[in-house]
Amino acid sequence: MARIIVVTSGKGGVGKTTSSASFASGLALRGHKTVVIDFDVGLRNLDLIMGCERRVVYDLINVVNKEASLNQALIKDKHCENLFILPASQTRDKDALTEEGVEAVLHELINMGYEYIICDSPAGIEHGALMALTFADEALIVTNPEVSSVRDSDRILGIIQAKSRRAQSGGEPVKEHLLITRYAPKRVEAGEMLSFTDVQEILRIPLIGIIPESEQVLHASNQGNPAIHFKGTDVANAYEDVISRFLGHETPLRYTNYEKPGLLQRIFGAK
Ligand SMILES: Nc1ncnc2c1ncn2[C@@H]1O[C@H](COP(=O)(O)OP(=O)(O)OP(=O)(O)O)[C@@H](O)[C@H]1O
Ligand SMILES: [Mg+2]
Repeated sequence: MARIIVVTSGKGGVGKTTSSASFASGLALRGHKTVVIDFDVGLRNLDLIMGCERRVVYDLINVVNKEASLNQALIKDKHCENLFILPASQTRDKDALTEEGVEAVLHELINMGYEYIICDSPAGIEHGALMALTFADEALIVTNPEVSSVRDSDRILGIIQAKSRRAQSGGEPVKEHLLITRYAPKRVEAGEMLSFTDVQEILRIPLIGIIPESEQVLHASNQGNPAIHFKGTDVANAYEDVISRFLGHETPLRYTNYEKPGLLQRIFGAK
């Protein structure tokens, strides 16, 4: 059975698109036929992060409006055989997305045999974000360890619980996962950031992973390669762990503790 997963947050700029790209790539790398859809109409940037911006001809709204077929609009990922990207329109208004139109696109993707459909949501709680979450089976709630981000995540959880199809039909609720991004243990230690346990305590949803704050993310996006491809880096390892947990494997948390440099490290500056 196909699963539709929305990557959402409420607050902007917390790492949704970064996480959507690595999450979709990670699932595809493990052999799952996956598609990632950019719902950020007007501000599309998933195609940049995935490095396929020059190949965009048609987009989600063209498909919703039947101006192009899904096969025309889907772009094959440059790394993974079984990963496709459905870009957003840069020029249209986000209201061009209709609920029926989005539902029809998702149905067709399911019929095409996709196992995972990842929906990269725009920030906010308005139309575009609602369209991204309405049909979700699961949600990754991307949250930074700071009060405003946690508050907006709480708000989006309320919306998922009120407005998703699953909520409206009274069936099995949307399965929620907390993904904490841009985590800096040193700043947590210094009391400048909330700890992951603080965030968890406020939101009270299961934690699927913690992605460390890293310059590698900017480097990856400048290159147009999702961070998960930079094997051996902390960020790639953390996203790999998220995929493992999502697929049901127990995986211990990493990158949560700040290790004070020892005396020798402080003297010689070695890492
Ligand atoms: N783990 C990380 N470490 C450092 N920087 C990060 C990390 N994750 C994301 N960023 C940076 O944060 C910024 C926002 O990331 P991204 O575009 O993924 O967020 P978003 O939630 O999709 O934003 P929007 O709400 O505008 O769609 C980018 O500059 C990105 O490089
Ligand atoms: Mg984004």
